[in-house]
Amino acid sequence: MKTVTIDRLGQQGDGVAVGPIYAPRTLPGEVVNGTLVGDELTEIRIETPSSHRIAAGCPHYRSCGGCQLQHASMDFVAAFKRDIVATALHFQGVETVVRDTLTSPDQSRRRASFAARRTKKGTLVGFHGRRSDTIVPVPSCILVSPELVFGQEVAESLALVGASRKATLTVTVTSSLEGLDVAVKGGKPLDAPLRIALAACCEEHRLARLDWDGELIGMRQAPTQRMGRAQVLPPPGAFLQATAHGQNALLGLVTEIVGDSKTVADLFAGCGTFSLPLAEQAEVFAYESVPEMVAAMDAGWRQARGLKKLVAQTRDLFRRPLMPDELARLDAVVIDPPRSGAAAQIAELAKASVPQIAYVSCNPQTFARDAKTLCDSGYVLDWVQPVDQFRWSSHVELVGAFRLAHMSV
Ligand SMILES: C[S@@+](CC[C@H](N)C(=O)[O-])C[C@H]1O[C@@H](n2cnc3c(N)ncnc32)[C@H](O)[C@@H]1O
Repeated sequence: MKTVTIDRLGQQGDGVAVGPIYAPRTLPGEVVNGTLVGDELTEIRIETPSSHRIAAGCPHYRSCGGCQLQHASMDFVAAFKRDIVATALHFQGVETVVRDTLTSPDQSRRRASFAARRTKKGTLVGFHGRRSDTIVPVPSCILVSPELVFGQEVAESLALVGASRKATLTVTVTSSLEGLDVAVKGGKPLDAPLRIALAACCEEHRLARLDWDGELIGMRQAPTQRMGRAQVLPPPGAFLQATAHGQNALLGLVTEIVGDSKTVADLFAGCGTFSLPLAEQAEVFAYESVPEMVAAMDAGWRQARGLKKLVAQTRDLFRRPLMPDELARLDAVVIDPPRSGAAAQIAELAKASVPQIAYVSCNPQTFARDAKTLCDSGYVLDWVQPVDQFRWSSHVELVGAFRLAHMSV
């Protein structure tokens, strides 16, 4: 038996004691004991609990790997995430105001990927256990929306007809305005009988759309997402902000930064989460590398009423970032890159003089790196707002408000 005191939480949300020794599901200040396996404490008993410790709200928390922080109070998790952002900026020497975290409510995730497998007795559907291949059924999950809880029944039916006994299906279920939008990866190869059986599943569960390893099985109704005044039909499995609350929060912050700018570029634009609402007041140039997402945004814009010009283009911004002469005509830039950040594009923005930049990020480390580049080239980071769409995980998103130093607030 080993007894340790937890100093801090690590990047994955585990408690960390001197060593380092990792103790999952513990909190700073707690005295805990357990069996040391490598650098991880197992079979943990809490000797002295933290005042931030609470009973997990979900009955599956003990075995499910989907959440890491349900044993901590909401205030603690919000402060932990704010601190991740502040620490990353401090490490890069970037000074700013870090606002308090905005957190999405329980049961608000509108997309989830369930694991589904055929078994001797039938099927097994759920999330993976912590760092394991085990599938844990989560019929009372409090993270995802009620429609997605029902999505597990759909995944069971799909696994029954279309999973081999060897492979695990990944069933991505998204809530849309018209019902569930389901995209499956890892299924049996399609043949005529499987197609018929899957089409029957689509009907029986009244799915809006069913996609099987990139092939459309059925679309009873086009599964659309609202983006401002526009309704967009995203390609199956396309990126979408994880909660409607998060999307609205991010959009509100982006709008606060962009203000009454007349010409805006939206970089890494997806299907138009920011471009389409911004086109209600500004001329927008949107860039995204996936052509199907660009086409979805363009179609949404064409069908919506009263929007200003939106030019959506397919472009790889890692290889071909917007250059200073292209940036010169803009009043503001919105940038929302993948986890690796946007070093190449930020290097060009640093050479240009766009008055306002709204940087949306899902990785505080790459954000802080890019923030330093901008701040070293004449930008001020007025504030950063952490946004928590991934409740009870260690993941955090944020929006940063940059302006050219000589511009007034
Ligand atoms: C974090 S998502 C943001 C999407 C969008 N802003 C939204 O909120 O829905 C990042 C987007 O960048 C796109 N992307 C990834 N690599 C890219 C690249 N090299 N050039 C342009 N877009 C890229 C992805 O397809 C994805 O749509």
